[in-house]
Amino acid sequence: MTGNPVIETLNLVKIYARSEEPALNGISLIIPEGEIFGLLGPNGAGKTTTINILCGILRPTSGQVKVAGMELNGNLKEIKKVIGVVPQDIALYPTLTARENLCFIGSMYGLHGKLLQSRVNEYLTLFGLMEFANRTIKTYSGGMKRRINLIAGILNRPKILFLDEPTVGIDVQSRTVIIDYLKTLNAEGTTIVYTSHYMEEAEHLCTSIAIIDQGHIIIQGRPAEMIDSQPGYANLESIFLHLTGRTLRDH
Ligand SMILES: Nc1ncnc2c1ncn2[C@@H]1O[C@H](COP(=O)(O)OP(=O)(O)OP(=O)(O)O)[C@@H](O)[C@H]1O
Ligand SMILES: [Mg+2]
Repeated sequence: MTGNPVIETLNLVKIYARSEEPALNGISLIIPEGEIFGLLGPNGAGKTTTINILCGILRPTSGQVKVAGMELNGNLKEIKKVIGVVPQDIALYPTLTARENLCFIGSMYGLHGKLLQSRVNEYLTLFGLMEFANRTIKTYSGGMKRRINLIAGILNRPKILFLDEPTVGIDVQSRTVIIDYLKTLNAEGTTIVYTSHYMEEAEHLCTSIAIIDQGHIIIQGRPAEMIDSQPGYANLESIFLHLTGRTLRDH
């Protein structure tokens, strides 16, 4: 399962304005096509910063980034046609209905008319939300909002899907629906780049992972191989705690 690289970064550094410490301190990653790649790390590790750079929301201070074989710099318009983004913070208009939100977001991706309507209907049905389609987002539960947030990122059927903590704060039912769908999407050929705190989820979902802490990659590889290579650690969570320590990461 090693396709051509669809994401390549070299020595990515990000120093936010008025920050003393770099948020990213030389991140080099290669993600082949067809992977479910997990970027894992404690709070403040640099997961969102990395994802936001890869999808063109944030500019790096230095370093190189290629997405879908193209330099990010100068090709963002082309790159945006093949990527989907599911942000950590729910990006929906609370006073619009779910359908209105999705139609608006779909039109930003260039979808219109019958195609847009049929995609919106297809995904609302798939995620069990059709009967709530005409309710405003502010009346939705957290799990329902997460599912709409996910639909918003896949409406354009991206080749590469970025998801920043897509299962945070939701019940096991919503989480299962989302995880099962990500597996289906990947089986159909979509490369998935996802961040999480949930080591058990990542261990079972991801074909490949990198653990980052304080802007550095501390280990990367296939979960099963990683567990085999660390004698005395039975799962990803124990390796994660061993490598990142137990101190809290509030800033
Ligand atoms: N806009 C910003 N300005 C200044 N510093 C920032 C900004 N955004 C993030 N940071 C800092 O950069 C570092 C990395 O933050 P980032 O949000 O990428 O971490 P994360 O791994 O996504 O964390 P979490 O698990 O809490 O979502 C942290 O130290 C954070 O405080
Ligand atoms: Mg984050």
